[in-house]
Order: sequence, then C-alpha cells, then structure tokens
Amino acid sequence: MKTDIPYNQLMDLEWRRQESNRKAQAYSRCVIALATVATVLLAATALYNILTQKGPSSHPTPSSSLHVGQGESCSDPCKIILLESIPEGLEFNSSTANPSIYQAWLNLMSEARSSIDIASFYWTLTNKDTGTHHPTAYQGETVLKELAKLSGQLSVRIAVNTPPESQPQGDLRLLNDSGADIRTVNMRQLTTGVLHTKFWVVDKKHIYIGSANMDWRSLTQVKELGVVVYNCSCLAADLGKIFEAYWFLGESQSIPSPWPTSFSTLYNKDTPLQLALNDTPSSVYLSSSPPSFCAAGRTPDLQSILSVMDDAQSFIYIAVMNYLPTMEFSHPKRYWEDIDTQLRRVAYERQVKVRLLISCWGSTQPVMLSFLKSLASVYDFKTKLDIQVRLFVVPASPEQKEIPFARVNHNKYMVTDKVAYIGTSNWSGDYFVHTAGSALVVNQTASQSQEPTVQSQLRAVFERDWSSDYSTPVTQHTNLKNIC
Ligand SMILES: *[C@@H]1O[C@H](CO)[C@@H](O)[C@H](O)[C@H]1NC(C)=O
Ligand SMILES: *[C@@H]1O[C@H](CO)[C@@H](O)[C@H](O)[C@H]1NC(C)=O
Ligand SMILES: *[C@@H]1O[C@H](CO)[C@@H](O)[C@H](O)[C@H]1NC(C)=O
Ligand SMILES: *[C@@H]1O[C@H](CO)[C@@H](O)[C@H](O)[C@H]1NC(C)=O
Ligand SMILES: *[C@@H]1O[C@H](CO)[C@@H](O)[C@H](O)[C@H]1NC(C)=O
Repeated sequence: MKTDIPYNQLMDLEWRRQESNRKAQAYSRCVIALATVATVLLAATALYNILTQKGPSSHPTPSSSLHVGQGESCSDPCKIILLESIPEGLEFNSSTANPSIYQAWLNLMSEARSSIDIASFYWTLTNKDTGTHHPTAYQGETVLKELAKLSGQLSVRIAVNTPPESQPQGDLRLLNDSGADIRTVNMRQLTTGVLHTKFWVVDKKHIYIGSANMDWRSLTQVKELGVVVYNCSCLAADLGKIFEAYWFLGESQSIPSPWPTSFSTLYNKDTPLQLALNDTPSSVYLSSSPPSFCAAGRTPDLQSILSVMDDAQSFIYIAVMNYLPTMEFSHPKRYWEDIDTQLRRVAYERQVKVRLLISCWGSTQPVMLSFLKSLASVYDFKTKLDIQVRLFVVPASPEQKEIPFARVNHNKYMVTDKVAYIGTSNWSGDYFVHTAGSALVVNQTASQSQEPTVQSQLRAVFERDWSSDYSTPVTQHTNLKNIC
C-alpha cells in the first residue's frame, strides 16, 4: 500500500462525500432543454448563413484571414503530430515511436509570440510539489521555468480547477508572480465535478490536447498520449472557444444558459471542419463535456464517443485508464450504461471487433475487473462476437514505486477503422456528466494521400501496446493481485 495519497485521489474522495444524485437529475433535464435551444439556434444560424451567403458573424478570434463557416474550408497548412510520454524504462519490440509531449511543449513555447492559453486540472511540475527527489522531474521543472519566463513577456492565461487546500500551489504562485493571468474554476460548486481538461492554445494558431496533466510525472513516469497541431488557426479558434468558456466560468462562477453566441460553434459531429492536416483532406471537430458547458453547436463528449462507435465498420480499439459502466463517485450507487451498451450493441448487431486496453495499477478498483470480465465474455468465434479486453501494467523498480501517482497507462483514446478520437476523460459516467473534458476527432477517410493518417498512426500505437508483454488478457480467472 502506498502511504501517499495522490492529489487526484484526494479530489476523488471529496467528490465521494457529495450527494450528486439530485443534481445529476436536475442537470439531465437542463441538458435536454439546452440541447433543444441549441438545435434551434444552430438551425437558425445555418439558415441565416445560407440566406446571406456568409460565415459566422460572431467569430471571436478572427486571427485567421479566412472566415471559415459551414460548407467552407480552412486553407491553413495545418501540421498534426501524434505525441507520447513513455515512462522511464519502458521498452517495446516495435518501430512505432512518436515525438514526446515534453518536446512538443518546449516547441510550443519557443513558437509563442503573443499568447499561451492553458486549460488544466492541477499543477505539480517540480520535485518540491510532490515531495520527491527524482532526477526525471527535470523535464517538468524546465517547462515551468520556461513558462514563467514567458509569463513576463506575453499573454499567458491559465484556467485551472480550484485547487483543494491540500494541493501544492507553488507552480501557480510562481506563474502568477511572473505575470501570468490565472483563473480558478470552481467545478465542485458548478457541477460537483472537476476541470479535468488538458490543452494548450498558442498564438491562436497552434494547439496541444491530450491526457498529460501539468505534472512532471506526466512527462517521464506516466504513459500519456496527445497531439499537437501547428499552424491551424481555424481549429485553434474553435478550441479557443472552449478555453474562453472556462475563462468565463472562472470569473462568473455560474453557468450561463444559454451560452452567449460568441461561444457557439459550427463544427460538430454532423458538420465537421474541413481542412488539410499534413496535406491530407480531413474533417475534424472538438467535443466537450459536461453538456452544460456546450454552447450551441458543440457535440457533447459522450455523443461524440457513441457516434464514433456507431460509425465503425470493422474495429474499435480503446485505450483508457479507467473503464466503468457506473457513476464512479455517486452515492447512492448508480449504474451508467451508455458506453457499455453501445459496445455490446455494435459487437452483436454488426460484428464489429472491439478491443479494450485498460490500465491496471495499485489503485485499480476490483469492481472494474468484474465489469471488464463481463465485457470480455461477449466472445463467440462461431457467431463472430468479438470483444476482447487486456490490462496494461507499467512495471516499476523499487525506486520508481516510491513516486506517488505514477507508473500507469493514462492514455485516453479510441481508434476505429475510420477515425481517431483523442480525449482527456476516464471512461465512467462522472466524466461525461459532471467533469469538464474535451476531445479531438479526426476523420481522414477521404484521404488518397501516401502520408500516414492520424488513424493509422494511432492504430499502430494501440497494436504495439496490445501485443506487448505489458498487456495481459482478461479472462474469467483473472486475479488483479497476480497482475498489478
Ligand atoms: C482517472 O481515474 C483515476 C482513478 O479514479 C484518477 O486517479 C485520475 O485522476 C482520473 N483522471 C485522470 C487524470 O485521468
Ligand atoms: C496573483 O497575484 C495577485 C497579486 O499580484 C493576487 O492578488 C492574486 O490573488 C494572485 N492570484 C493567484 C491565483 O494566486
Ligand atoms: C508554421 O508556418 C510557418 C510559416 O509559414 C513555418 O515557418 C513553420 O515551419 C510552420 N510550422 C510547422 C511546425 O510546420
Ligand atoms: C468520416 O467521414 C466520412 C466521409 O468521408 C463519413 O461518411 C463518416 O461518417 C465520418 N465518420 C465520423 C465518425 O465522423
Ligand atoms: C521483446 O521481445 C523479447 C524476445 O522475444 C521478449 O523477451 C520481451 O519480453 C519483449 N518485450 C516486450 C515489451 O514485449
């Protein structure tokens, strides 16, 4: 047993004390109402644009010379790169390797000329924050130093979940003292959740999004996956709207309903943004949770996941840290079926092959294994029912075991035969109902180009991990104690 309680878990414990049931019901009513308003608004906007033959009139960030709107496309030379943090000591028998998240963050800072906006959960970029003396904190400490330097030179804005008393605040204090603008978002009060999103918007044209927290361990001791997109002001403008929503909530401390039109988007699962990523024709959109944070036009994160699954024809590969068909932090207990049911449905009705790669570490809840065994039992060779589950373990030396909240696969993505979905949420009900998260969905099925697509790169990452010695198949006899 670890003696340190990770900060994230402290927050989880706080949630658990809450009675979220009543609020959840109030929210779902509110969400239905909002969705109705959103649909009407979106339809009206679209009609107006068609009638007047022009793009959106209230584009809040006209940094792009183009006015991108429905049916129009973005001519930015967007360059997308898949990123990973591979924990110290992890080695694969595979040529699949991606640039590091650390390197991308350094690049983004060196590219920055006017602004850096960061949405974040918590900040522990130094050994001091975690009470450790580990040499692999160097990368995180470098990021913090560089960001503090830039905070005096350009506009640096940070939206962060309101830190509990117990959480170290040295990094935020340093950044504040260096000139950064910081707003705390009191998610606990707003939705009984947390701000779990992790993304960057730089100069309103480059973005980063992925699973890594602003934590030194996310760069060297935790397995992470993310993506950086350079020179892409149309996409950055859309992610900027999600940032502006957090920024707004950091000040107002109450959720507008409906959201002002400056937060609305034209890009969603039904009308994605058309652009060239690495010279490959692509359609992309950003989803967001919880639904109460979605302005008109924005696809809620859960709808995004369900629709990506619906669209898959031959396979769905999922790599997430936690997978639970429950409201993980609710009392009384509540079952939450949406994702689980969708997986069983597509496996049964359309013989889609489903693979889940879930993380296993010291703090894995035993109940998760029961639900995973249930999913893994949906397998029958004759009728082509084919759901398989594996547990991924990041091994730790005695010294690495001393690092709190580390040595775990923290990935949050899904890849199908059609698209890549790169998100920031664990897969249990809370993350789609109360918690703020976001995801990028990239569809390059129209591509004829020789360039590897994001989908094919992500698939290679999944296959590398799935077939490595770090993964163990879940069977009816699997016992967590023997694995992690
Ligand atoms: C995901 O779930 C685990 C276990 O509840 C939690 O520790 C972690 O903070 C969650 N969030 C992230 C960052 O994935
Ligand atoms: C930032 O510093 C100012 C004083 O310069 C202080 O009023 C404010 O509370 C600080 N904000 C945070 C988030 O620490
Ligand atoms: C972004 O565009 C600029 C100007 O065209 C170019 O110099 C730079 O190399 C591009 N960045 C990337 C990562 O492609
Ligand atoms: C991807 O794009 C194709 C058209 O190129 C479309 O038929 C399909 O529904 C899209 N998939 C998703 C998940 O958006
Ligand atoms: C790589 O291959 C070697 C030899 O087959 C094997 O011993 C080792 O466990 C493999 N490592 C991984 C991570 O799969």
